[in-house]
Amino acid sequence: MNRRMLVAGNWKMYTTSGEGALLIEDLAPLVDGFWDDVEIAVCPPFTGLKAASTVIELDHLTLSLGAQDVHWEAEGAFTGAIAPRMLADLRCDYVIVGHSERREYFGDTNETVNKKVRATFDAGMVPIMCCGETLATREAMETDSFVRAQVMEGAAGLSAEEAATLVIAYEPIWAIGTGRTPTPEAANDVCRSIRATIGAMYGPPAAKACRILYGGSVKPENAAMFFSEPDIDGALVGGAALKADSFADIAKAAR
Ligand code: 13P
Repeated sequence: MNRRMLVAGNWKMYTTSGEGALLIEDLAPLVDGFWDDVEIAVCPPFTGLKAASTVIELDHLTLSLGAQDVHWEAEGAFTGAIAPRMLADLRCDYVIVGHSERREYFGDTNETVNKKVRATFDAGMVPIMCCGETLATREAMETDSFVRAQVMEGAAGLSAEEAATLVIAYEPIWAIGTGRTPTPEAANDVCRSIRATIGAMYGPPAAKACRILYGGSVKPENAAMFFSEPDIDGALVGGAALKADSFADIAKAAR
């Protein structure tokens, strides 16, 4: 089974709506013709989704669109929150769910991550479910069991078909925004274990089909090393996704 590479840019809380639209316009010519080999997604803040969606549509760009979070309820009195169908309405393909920054600063747990995963699928989009360990967990040699538990709880209750389309981003917390990374082999070990966990939950076809991304200080200089690993199907990129040329260079490495 050939999994399609996916390179997704998580713009976090950095871009206004206008800046995001410009970034897409800068990026588009640099990744023209990449689509057959690698899927490229941009994930602006909520306020940038409408402009991004409009640029992608009007310019007929082959870019996927993702949001950075979602509420699990279909609607309701949840001031400040965004419902899944609001994102689907803006033609989002993906929703990043359970990013470590959401877990750390906004109280996301494996249980709420699981509800968001469910709600994202129910609205016709695909979750990019994040997992990853702290430095303390890594130093205690508990990475594998910690990440497996995140996957088992976060991805519980899916159909095998849903599990096959799920995207999981392995992002060691100590590698995010730090310039530090695991070796590609060490990252692949965790990604292989994540795939085995999906296999145990949903069977070998789902394990073979689901895409597992590496995230954490991915740069043009190191991307190819991660992409050459067998269980790494792309990247979730933070800082380097905010510049069109560095993000395009990462996508080029995935071709
Ligand atoms: P950096 O690429 O800036 O380390 O961020 C990774 C990340 O958190 C993507 O979701």
